[in-house]
Amino acid sequence: MKIAVIGAGYVGLVSGACLAQFGFDVFCVDHDAAKVEALNAGRVPIHEAGLGKLIHDNARAGRLHFTMDLKAAVSKAEAVFIAVSTPTRRGDDAADLAYVHQAASQIAAALDGYSVIITKSTVPVGTARKIKAQITAERPDADFDVAANPEFLREGSAVDDFLKPDRVVIGTEKKRAQEVLRKIYQPIAMTGAPLIFTDFESAELIKYAANGYLAMRLAFINQLADLCEEVGGDIAVVAKGIGHDKRIGHHYLQPGPGFGGSCFPKDTKALAVTAREAGAPFSLIEAVVKANDKRKLDLSTRVTRMLGGSVADKRIAVLGLAFKADTDDMRDAPALDLIPALTAAKAQVVAYDPVVKPNGVSAFEGVEWAKSAYAAAKGADAVILLTEWNEFRGLDLAKLAKSMRAAVMIDLRNLYSPTDIAKTPFAYHSIGRQA
Ligand code: UGA
Repeated sequence: MKIAVIGAGYVGLVSGACLAQFGFDVFCVDHDAAKVEALNAGRVPIHEAGLGKLIHDNARAGRLHFTMDLKAAVSKAEAVFIAVSTPTRRGDDAADLAYVHQAASQIAAALDGYSVIITKSTVPVGTARKIKAQITAERPDADFDVAANPEFLREGSAVDDFLKPDRVVIGTEKKRAQEVLRKIYQPIAMTGAPLIFTDFESAELIKYAANGYLAMRLAFINQLADLCEEVGGDIAVVAKGIGHDKRIGHHYLQPGPGFGGSCFPKDTKALAVTAREAGAPFSLIEAVVKANDKRKLDLSTRVTRMLGGSVADKRIAVLGLAFKADTDDMRDAPALDLIPALTAAKAQVVAYDPVVKPNGVSAFEGVEWAKSAYAAAKGADAVILLTEWNEFRGLDLAKLAKSMRAAVMIDLRNLYSPTDIAKTPFAYHSIGRQA
């Protein structure tokens, strides 16, 4: 089966490479010439575990192609995935569907033979139906169906999440489209993961509901951690205590600096807009958005408090910039709120991240870049652990402390235990605990 994937971003690349791995003939289309050229030369533009090898192997086997030629890719493709970005729209926080509709228009013009056009991008409820109407209007003669097939990939484990998902959600109206999607996901169905066939609207809502619910858990545990700081108690133990209740479970209960990334912040905001516009305001999700935005904005106040009331002229090492470990993604990362606030308060910030490169992020103006955690900490008055990279879990704390002007650690990911840290020279501050 020939498959086209429109958009060779994070979702498109992972989906395209994994579909090629299933044996399909996959054409990934992007309008960015430099990206297509890089991919054809074997260079992968994002940091994602296992993706490089998957792309390399499937490209070499002749099953995975990168091209700017959308028409050729879509022509005779039985399935066309739309995997372009749906960023937050300036002004009203809704999902910006400009790229989706543009892609739909180009696909309409290129359709040649029966195709299922599948939304993989995160799109608000109602979009599949709109795309169907758009393509019908633009190409009344075309033989096509539409399907809504949201992704549940986490950055850092996206390949695994695609190949071994908890479920696959497929919204369709037509049997023929169902059969195409069933064929595509047969290798996954064989692993025992359920294929959930439903209508367009349910499929689209499942995606927002999943991200909204997980974000809500994070806002909950973060505020519970704040409460622990005031009244006593250890958030790790509290989380464990509630997590053992099978109705609650342990996932997504790790407190931190606030959720970031390209999905939770954007999708919670878009869900709130959808609900407001539909006349069914989702006050719970609105509160989640507000709480998380505030948490990130308050990070510098938190750090300043921990450092005795002022950061002026203090040298502060920030370890980790990416919004979470195992990715180079900086979108909505807490570092983008914390670091500019610290530099504005006249702190001298020196940053280190295992993969994020300093170039081009305007929020990091005036920041010094170090090549290792130890180099960053040298002469510093405090070290802030901001991303939970594994390499920060096993730091030689005696060595680190020795090179610092003052051995202070602000652990915004609770990577260390207060008991262990008590054996080191560090003054230690963490989240939701008494240290
Ligand atoms: C999220 C969802 O988990 C995926 O299922 C979904 O497909 C994806 O969004 C998307 O919509 O494309 P992702 O943003 O890659 O994936 O990352 P997560 O691992 O879910 O983390 C999101 C944020 O929550 C990060 O800032 C992370 O640091 C934070 N987090 C996560 C916590 O603070 N504590 C936790 O216990 C878990």
